[in-house]
Amino acid sequence: MDAPPAAPPETAATAVLVVDDDSLVRELLVRLLTAQGYRVAEADGTDAALALLDRDGEVPLVISDLHMPGRDGLELLREVRIRYPDTAMVMLTGDGDVATAVECLKIGARDYLSKPVQVQEVRARIDKALAERRLAIEMRELRDSYNRDLERQVHELSRKNQGMFLAQVQMAVTMLEAKDSYTRGHSHRVAEYAVATGRVMGLAPALLEQLRLGGELHDIGKIGTRDAVLHKPGPLDDEEFAEIRRHTLEGEAMLSLLRADNPEVLHIVRWHHERLDGTGFPDGLLANQIPMTARIVSVVDAFDAMTTNRAYRAQLVAEVAIGELQRCAGNQFDPAVVAAFRSTFPDPNALPSRV
Ligand SMILES: [Fe+2]
Repeated sequence: MDAPPAAPPETAATAVLVVDDDSLVRELLVRLLTAQGYRVAEADGTDAALALLDRDGEVPLVISDLHMPGRDGLELLREVRIRYPDTAMVMLTGDGDVATAVECLKIGARDYLSKPVQVQEVRARIDKALAERRLAIEMRELRDSYNRDLERQVHELSRKNQGMFLAQVQMAVTMLEAKDSYTRGHSHRVAEYAVATGRVMGLAPALLEQLRLGGELHDIGKIGTRDAVLHKPGPLDDEEFAEIRRHTLEGEAMLSLLRADNPEVLHIVRWHHERLDGTGFPDGLLANQIPMTARIVSVVDAFDAMTTNRAYRAQLVAEVAIGELQRCAGNQFDPAVVAAFRSTFPDPNALPSRV
């Protein structure tokens, strides 16, 4: 007689689907598996098996005959592999079917049983198939969790790197401006004005953060501009002007590390000298082609430049500078931005932020 039934390795409710067109074989297997504590379902062919799985959901184990009328066991195996990759399949083969059995193993069957089935062998093969299935699932979960952890660590590292990088470029901006008494604090004020204007215009908080950073870093590319050009008191010749214009592209290249997380910062750095009428640089963009953040920085950058002393001219009073922004609205500046900036401080002579 059979040995007393051992507890099944999954749970008492582990479902096994037996698929065979031969009702005697099905009956034998169902009896055997039920006696071992498995919950057993049966089907007489591939279509019936798939319909059952479709209706009741996947099962840990399918034992299927190879030769069945209509779609055979190989077809069932292929379908189950695709639809229920965690399901272990054990194939039932007749004598002389070794080649087919090997073919089944190649396409993902866990094991095969030769007919007529031997009770002890069925038990051993099923236990083995279910144990392998559990191991495969555990390995996958382990791999997934390792990958998730790795992803998190890489993300954290890149945030840390980005933080260090930002601290460095911000220091570079401070040093750049410290060399020149005219521009000291310029980038900080541009950032303050830009955020105040962006807030009036209803920009989302995340975009305001990029606006602040873009305002602080908009002229970072000037690190590569010669001092003689940067601080030249007189008008620039063509070559010198070309050198100045390059600070937009050089700045963008310097900050490329920020592209993934802060794309607007790079837009500001590249496009804060574009003009609505397309005569700006470096790309000659037109009106709406210029991102809103860059249009904002363009206005407040010009305002701060006008209201501070520069090597090439004395500062203007705020009211005159505002008048100049309004005069150029529509051609150079976005009128909506000029209006929003104007509204951020009611008294033009009481500037919002001086550093
Ligand atoms: Fe600039």
